[in-house]
Amino acid sequence: MTKTNTKPMFIRNASQLVTLKGGSESPRVKEQMEELHIIENGSVWIENGKIEDVGTDKELSEKYSSKLNQAQHIDATGKLVTPGFVDPHTHLVHAGTRENEFNMRLQGASYMDIMNAGGGIHSTTKATREASHSQLYNESFARLNRFLKQGVTTVEAKSGYGLSLEHEMKQLEVAKKLNETHPIDIVSTFMGAHAVPAQYKENPDEFVDLVIYEMLPKVAESGLAEFNDVFCERGVFTPDQSRRILEAGLNLGLLPKIHADEIEPYAGAELAATLGAVSADHLLKASDEGIRQMAEAGVIGVLLPGTAFFLMAESANGRKMIDEGVAVALSTDCNPGSSPTVSTPLIMNLGCLKMGMTPAEVLTAVTINAAHAIKRGHEVGSIEVGKKADMNIFNVPTYMHLQYMYGENHINTVIKNGQVAISGGNLVCQDTHTHN
Ligand code: NIG
Ligand code: FE
Repeated sequence: MTKTNTKPMFIRNASQLVTLKGGSESPRVKEQMEELHIIENGSVWIENGKIEDVGTDKELSEKYSSKLNQAQHIDATGKLVTPGFVDPHTHLVHAGTRENEFNMRLQGASYMDIMNAGGGIHSTTKATREASHSQLYNESFARLNRFLKQGVTTVEAKSGYGLSLEHEMKQLEVAKKLNETHPIDIVSTFMGAHAVPAQYKENPDEFVDLVIYEMLPKVAESGLAEFNDVFCERGVFTPDQSRRILEAGLNLGLLPKIHADEIEPYAGAELAATLGAVSADHLLKASDEGIRQMAEAGVIGVLLPGTAFFLMAESANGRKMIDEGVAVALSTDCNPGSSPTVSTPLIMNLGCLKMGMTPAEVLTAVTINAAHAIKRGHEVGSIEVGKKADMNIFNVPTYMHLQYMYGENHINTVIKNGQVAISGGNLVCQDTHTHN
């Protein structure tokens, strides 16, 4: 498929062009998270899928006057333009839904009780194992279209519903194919240590050995994943097992990520700092000391307020983490159990309303900081010369409106790799209709 466009594109005259420039080298921390670098009456010149120039409409229309009639013009007058959103933590590739468990939780059952009784992650694992490659592909492809409609242009995708070499590889292969066919870019994470399968319940270390000695080497050899993640939680993987799995991955070139301190405090943030993990995610119950150590070690905190909302739990303390110097990113955690949403805008709303973050901070957290959380800070997450032309145009005049008028999809246009993927809120890109 074509991911680039040969005709130049000229996005013109946004009431606010939020560039977030200047953060390609490292994620933003503390007050830097407020620095959006907004251009009023801003325009962007795009060529070959990349950002060629950024400035005011007056500057660019003069500079490119000789080429103006060759370009596709997109009028953003009165509208907000931001970088395309980056979702740095999803369980994109999975089969089926778990609405019955949602109903059970509403009547008092806990997430962990459901999982320990063989439901939860185990029930999605069963469905995902039974699904064919093309079933998984089609379900996930449709989900990617829903992400795109919310303005998400890059997505991290974890395996972890296979829990055997064969089925983990199937998920990773589907993610690779989706990356090749869908406009959204996908960055893959291996998460063989997402749950302990029932047959290893009495001897979980045997499963840990399977992950370390059988799965990780094959996954690393295949080149199908860049990161290695583990669910470090009481009753799932202990901090010591998590450390062994993440160190083994690191020795094979897979960078560590960790589901940490989600349900109970379990020293996951501390472990992430000790390992120098790229990110520690969830952190609802992270200790003060763990937060301090993460800031010192430069571990990005990927916070998932949709998961807290959906599990009816108290959100992570985003305000405190930012004040302590942790680079914070936000994500949907899109998965069928604890957060069945694709809505980055909703996550931003929750970031403001449940975690004490400002509208500017949440925008930083879903763009440049999210890009750093998947090692893509040099490629996406800001509107800067040389980066991918991934941009959102919203039917609101300022970024503040985006956080303020909550619960609505304000997307007008999504540009992915310099092509219009969403127009008037609807899918237009040819590639979004391709099915195998
Ligand atoms: O990030 N916490 C573990 N994993 C997912 C949930 C997966 C599921 O319930 O299917 C999470 O919340
Ligand atoms: Fe998750």
